Amino acid sequence: MNLISIADLTPEEILEVLDRADEMKARRNDPSRGEVLAAKSIAAIFEKPSTRTRVSLEVAMTELGGHALYLSSDDLQLGRGETVADTARVLSRYVHAIAARVYHHATVEELARYAAVPVINLLSDLEHPCQILADMMTMRERFGRLEGLKVAWVGDGNNVCNSTILAAALMGMEMVVASPPGFGPNGKILDQADRLGGGTVVVTDPVKAVCGADVVETDTWVSMGDEAEADRRKVAFQRYQVNSDLIRHAADEAIVLHCLPAHRGCEITDDVMDGPRSAILDQSENRLHSVKAVLERLMV
Ligand code: CP
Ligand code: NVA
Repeated sequence: MNLISIADLTPEEILEVLDRADEMKARRNDPSRGEVLAAKSIAAIFEKPSTRTRVSLEVAMTELGGHALYLSSDDLQLGRGETVADTARVLSRYVHAIAARVYHHATVEELARYAAVPVINLLSDLEHPCQILADMMTMRERFGRLEGLKVAWVGDGNNVCNSTILAAALMGMEMVVASPPGFGPNGKILDQADRLGGGTVVVTDPVKAVCGADVVETDTWVSMGDEAEADRRKVAFQRYQVNSDLIRHAADEAIVLHCLPAHRGCEITDDVMDGPRSAILDQSENRLHSVKAVLERLMV
């Protein structure tokens, strides 16, 4: 089994992963928790920088008794033209799973096609499934449920937004996305969410999206790989800042999420990030517990 898209998991499997992640969190310091990945290794290929994903994965593997190899794509023969297929075939002879953070979603799909071991998407231009598992874990901690929550995404219709749309459709959450014209979510993802039974609402007015929302989520205006468009994007996104004026329209108990890294003063203000509505540090921490549940599911 692979985790390339959050939709690779059924709703029941997502709930099992989240339940296990809760257990992992509660038992983190319990010495009897067991090392379920003893003598197992994962190869983690990174084409782009990372703080949370890399550290949470490496620590998770260590705490589960296994080992993670950090492989910058520049340091692999991949960077000198060895094919993705050959890389997948060879790594499969050494390790028990492959994880990859890539520019093009097709690269992680190709790894999965040729690997003989499970492949995990650590972020592509299309999706970030490990992130949305941590996000849902955080929502459940705060609200005790997912079904029926209203999630408002404010800003770029990017990889994290796409995974949130699919997760909302799978788990019965209401999803509203507010993006500037031309920066909305991927059309195929919206169609897929429709087929899964979740009608995503896409608007241009951030206030309309946030009205009554339980969860307000945002992300950078300039994702890795979009740097050439940075100036144009910063102009287009000016109205799409998550600030105290905007979150006043959300539900009384609303939480604010951001996958990080944040660009304080752009997509989110300091007072919101550091304020009482922010669940952002819990969300970050939950990357560790949720990825442990994923690793156990795929590698044991
Ligand atoms: N949220 C997230 O994936 O962060 P990193 O880019 O630091 O891994
Ligand atoms: N959308 C961001 C997420 C980083 C974790 C990016 O792709 O750069």
